[in-house]
Amino acid sequence: MLQITFSPENLPQGGALALLVAEGQAPSAFFKAVDDATQGALARAAKADDFSGKDGVVTTILAPGAGFERIVLVGVGKADAFGPKEAEKAGSLAASALNRSEKANIALGGLPHAAHVALGATLGAYHFSLYRSVPAEDKKHALASVVVLSADPAKAEAAWPAQAAVARGVILTRDLVTEPANVLNPIEFAERITTLRSLGLEVEVLDRAAMEKLGFGALLGVAQGSDNEPRTVIMRWNGGKKDDAPLAFIGKGVTFDCGGISIKPAAGMEEMKGDMAGAAAVTGLMAALAGRKAQVNAVGIVGLVENMVSGNAQRPGDVVRSASGQTIEVLNTDAEGRLVLADVLWYARERFAPKLMVNLATLTGAIVVSLGHEYAGLFSNNDELATALTQAGAATGDKLWRMPMGKEYDALIKSDIADMKNIGGGRAGGSITAAQFLRRFVGETPWAHLDIAGTAWLDKGKYGQPKGATGFGVRLLNDFVRTQHEKA
Ligand code: BES
Ligand code: MN
Ligand code: ZN
Repeated sequence: MLQITFSPENLPQGGALALLVAEGQAPSAFFKAVDDATQGALARAAKADDFSGKDGVVTTILAPGAGFERIVLVGVGKADAFGPKEAEKAGSLAASALNRSEKANIALGGLPHAAHVALGATLGAYHFSLYRSVPAEDKKHALASVVVLSADPAKAEAAWPAQAAVARGVILTRDLVTEPANVLNPIEFAERITTLRSLGLEVEVLDRAAMEKLGFGALLGVAQGSDNEPRTVIMRWNGGKKDDAPLAFIGKGVTFDCGGISIKPAAGMEEMKGDMAGAAAVTGLMAALAGRKAQVNAVGIVGLVENMVSGNAQRPGDVVRSASGQTIEVLNTDAEGRLVLADVLWYARERFAPKLMVNLATLTGAIVVSLGHEYAGLFSNNDELATALTQAGAATGDKLWRMPMGKEYDALIKSDIADMKNIGGGRAGGSITAAQFLRRFVGETPWAHLDIAGTAWLDKGKYGQPKGATGFGVRLLNDFVRTQHEKA
């Protein structure tokens, strides 16, 4: 992770520098100082490139003199709209632009939210290089330390530890999602979670025998075709009052989804190494909550399985009995995420009687058709919870769009021979019928399901979000917990 330090906004001794510039304002004192030191290079470059400080626009000036190797102007839009989310985006853009330098400065030009700029820089500089034996391409990812220059470095330093914990959570999530499925199978995933005990998390691992005892017939049916043993992992963070019911966060952790006997087409199947992004987000969130010692009781539960084909794989038409006692006719073995979640959601509710439950899952291709890669789908049985989550999404940039539910959709998962089937009639409303299925396992508990199939992974980077795993959900739910469930 990027090493971050904070300093006052004094003129640096050359090197690499990014400077945040607000739109439609007189140049900041810092801008003028750097412009003077470089004989007007900043003003000339801004003019030549029509740089006006518009949100997301970056201009790079190479070797402008005064010992600078590069100076990057980062437009942040109007100063009065510059909040934590905008600060994060600016930091991320700055870090991407400075990535060829080992050390760099990022100056705020009098703007606030230095710790969020640092968070953005940390996430913008993220790069997964574990499996590169020749680090040629990594020259583009040299950035190792950043000094954030701001008006109030003491304040920034005080705010940083909590943001650093969030950064570590997001990075953990991204790393887990990026790991290939031959490395990150359910056992390895569970083992990585147990290392989080060092943060003060309680971690409990359920193996196949334990899950059999609990009657996890739906989850185990999915796991049945794989040589990799399944696991369910429970993480607990007890930072709240002793008797406060916990918040429960539940993740789909299909470490590889080939579809099972209802096998997927070959093209793009490699993407299904990321079918555990919900579980990875829950893990990253729990690490963030523990890392910043959140004053809340939270439990994270992830169902970890591999969905494979073999002579012993689950067949289309099989009927399984879930932990809730409800039976499920498995008409498509590729609709496996909901089977995993059925048992884990039920278990979370039965064992922990949580205040509320939020599950994250790369559940349906249909949500990508509906919402693309901008918004995750939000399904809920509780308006208050849905509103709070939507707000946290808007505040952090992990955006949510609420989708409908209702008994008309529920009717579509009626089975001829069991309590329900695991797919709707056809492709119509595929994300909604999936959500209706999950709803049958949450009872009256306030619950929300986030379908993150379109937002967990980006083939192309965009404004401050490097391509690849996004870590979607960690900042969202961290903010949800902080604003809604922690007493100041
Ligand atoms: N993991 C997939 C959903 C998915 C699709 C995630 C694209 C990320 C990107 C899920 O298990 C799945 O296969 N869903 C099926 C359900 C269908 C068989 C009812 C789908 O969406 O096609
Ligand atoms: Mn599937
Ligand atoms: Zn899946």
